[in-house]
Amino acid sequence: MKSIITYFAVIMEAATVLGGPGKGVKPDPDGRYTIAAPGIKAQFIPYGATLTNLFVKDKNGKDVDVVLGYDDVDYYPKDPGHPVYNAIPGRYANRIGKGKYTIDGEEYHTELNDGDNTLHSGTHNWSYRFWNVTEHTPTSITFAISDASNSSLGMLGRVDSTVTYSVSKNTWHIKMNAVSPERKTPVLLTQHTYFNLDAYKNPATDKIWDHTLYMPYSARYLEADQGALPTGKILTATPGSINDFASAAGLALGHARDQPGFAGNCGANGACEGYNGYWLIEDKPSRDAVVVSLASPFSGVKADLRTDQPGVVLYSCHWMDGSAQLKSTQELVVNGTAVPRTVGRSSCVAIEAQDYPDGINHPEWGRVDKQILGPGQKYSWESSWTFGLV
Ligand SMILES: *[C@@H]1O[C@H](CO)[C@@H](O)[C@H](O)[C@H]1NC(C)=O
Ligand SMILES: *[C@@H]1O[C@H](CO)[C@@H](O)[C@H](O)[C@H]1NC(C)=O
Ligand SMILES: *[C@@H]1O[C@H](CO)[C@@H](O)[C@H](O)[C@H]1NC(C)=O
Ligand SMILES: *[C@@H]1O[C@H](CO)[C@@H](O)[C@H](O)[C@H]1NC(C)=O
Repeated sequence: MKSIITYFAVIMEAATVLGGPGKGVKPDPDGRYTIAAPGIKAQFIPYGATLTNLFVKDKNGKDVDVVLGYDDVDYYPKDPGHPVYNAIPGRYANRIGKGKYTIDGEEYHTELNDGDNTLHSGTHNWSYRFWNVTEHTPTSITFAISDASNSSLGMLGRVDSTVTYSVSKNTWHIKMNAVSPERKTPVLLTQHTYFNLDAYKNPATDKIWDHTLYMPYSARYLEADQGALPTGKILTATPGSINDFASAAGLALGHARDQPGFAGNCGANGACEGYNGYWLIEDKPSRDAVVVSLASPFSGVKADLRTDQPGVVLYSCHWMDGSAQLKSTQELVVNGTAVPRTVGRSSCVAIEAQDYPDGINHPEWGRVDKQILGPGQKYSWESSWTFGLV
């Protein structure tokens, strides 16, 4: 009896989560799917379930495209740099230490594609797949992926997942679900969103250091090694120190640029300047509390994150090397002439709400159960970004 019920539950789950291409769902002529609500317009492509453009209002009431991307939707799959622009990496985002994990006493080996570690599940990661569009309305779009067993080396059992993006006044909502009907597997998802709230139009600088960041419930963060892999230790940022964004509202992302250690704060034996780490979100006063507030004095745009996830990855774009072109919506025009710019070092910030990176290998954090998904269970993830003015 139990097995019949379980079997039925699995079929029902698969039916609600999985879906082929939606009937009659068509993109705009430029290949993008558009959704809009007052004060916000968002555009997407099936490749990586990627957000390509996000228009909100700046302090002058003008539309400003606050996320990174490309004009040509066909370039995303070809881009050799592939920074996972506003895509969904999966089935297990971020790093798996030494490419190993254990479930029920059995050890599994994943692809080493980032030094000694696995990054974003290796070379068949979800941010490189063409997802199916299963539903599209003027205010929402749903993408689905069916990920075969072992399609990413060492990740066994099929996983079916959906992401639904929607908009309401000034707000972008993101909801993800996943099921693993065949066996237990690690699942950890995120939206890998890259921001520059000035859309690169600030003539004084294209660096991200002037943006302010406030994470009131994130005094603690994971110590990481030179390869950006958590060591296991949880540290507390003292007020004013490099990794402090909790002690006061309005600290600039570059507030600690003069401090020794900033130049090597994200590892690579001193070569990575700024941030590429994980901050815990703890003791928030309510389910809907704003946990991250990113703002720019130049455009006046403020972005507030709400999430059900227990922390965020922050990456201040050190590895952007100027080879990626900007979108035409992000051109700096001085006296009527466009000034060519590319995505330079430290010119953006990725903010990714997610569970603890490599938590499957750190039972001491108590996250293992949240990161292993098995038959009969359902994974869910929910966040929103609300835009306003500073
Ligand atoms: C993701 O998969 C693509 C396509 O196989 C690969 O080129 C890329 O290196 C992978 N990403 C990472 C972070 O390994
Ligand atoms: C999209 O749907 C088709 C038909 O159901 C399926 O064969 C294909 O694998 C799906 N693609 C993804 C990425 O899941
Ligand atoms: C997973 O795929 C690799 C090849 O990519 C293969 O060597 C291995 O045996 C496969 N594992 C399972 C359980 O199918
Ligand atoms: C723009 O034009 C004004 C007026 O002609 C001039 O004073 C200014 O120097 C110009 N700015 C740049 C960056 O060329």
